[in-house]
Amino acid sequence: MTSGKFITLEGGEGVGKSTNIQFVKEYLKAQNIPVVLTREPGGTPVAEAIRELLLEKHSEPFSVQSELLLMFAARAQHLSQVIQPNLKKGTWVLCDRFTDATYAYQGGGRKLDNNTIAWLENLVQGDFRPDLTLLLDTPIEIGLSRAKARNTLDRFESEQVVFFEAVRSVYLARARQFPERIKIIKADQPLANVQKDIVEILKQVVD
Ligand code: TMP
Repeated sequence: MTSGKFITLEGGEGVGKSTNIQFVKEYLKAQNIPVVLTREPGGTPVAEAIRELLLEKHSEPFSVQSELLLMFAARAQHLSQVIQPNLKKGTWVLCDRFTDATYAYQGGGRKLDNNTIAWLENLVQGDFRPDLTLLLDTPIEIGLSRAKARNTLDRFESEQVVFFEAVRSVYLARARQFPERIKIIKADQPLANVQKDIVEILKQVVD
């Protein structure tokens, strides 16, 4: 039994996850809820090393299976070292991406079979799932132009539009499949409105 809550933020590139995850953290802290902020892939020294491997561009082609397995290797490390211990002691965990991203990117983007992902999800997580997932959604042109403006593109950001269309459509399909857990936030509206929508949803888990 866990006592803290596990909240994840998801979305495509450039949807405003970094700004809004900070906002969620501050909101929870203001309610006197102990919270740690972390991210995937990453969140521990070993998992951050795996992240670097995943995000940098290599001259050697990256096998999609290697990519999938490394995502779950990082996740296993993150779960055992950070997520589970914090939840057990009552601290809430706020995570920038989790397994919905694997369904969206490796399933949608890379076209890997959902059953394979589900098998690894069960292996690594058992029946552990987020309590709440905020899905920030924008038309992909908006997100991509934001991502391009801010830095040199990593291995994922360098993908083609069709890849990001598939990522977005899997995220939206999962929100329809798990409407109790995954809440869609329209992210192409003024920040104040995005954050108002986020607060409305958070109130349901805080009370
Ligand atoms: P970030 O840029 O949001 O920190 O995420 C790093 C990249 O990793 C992003 O392009 C999405 C990708 N990713 C996957 O492909 N599968 C996953 O399971 C996760 C967690 C991230």
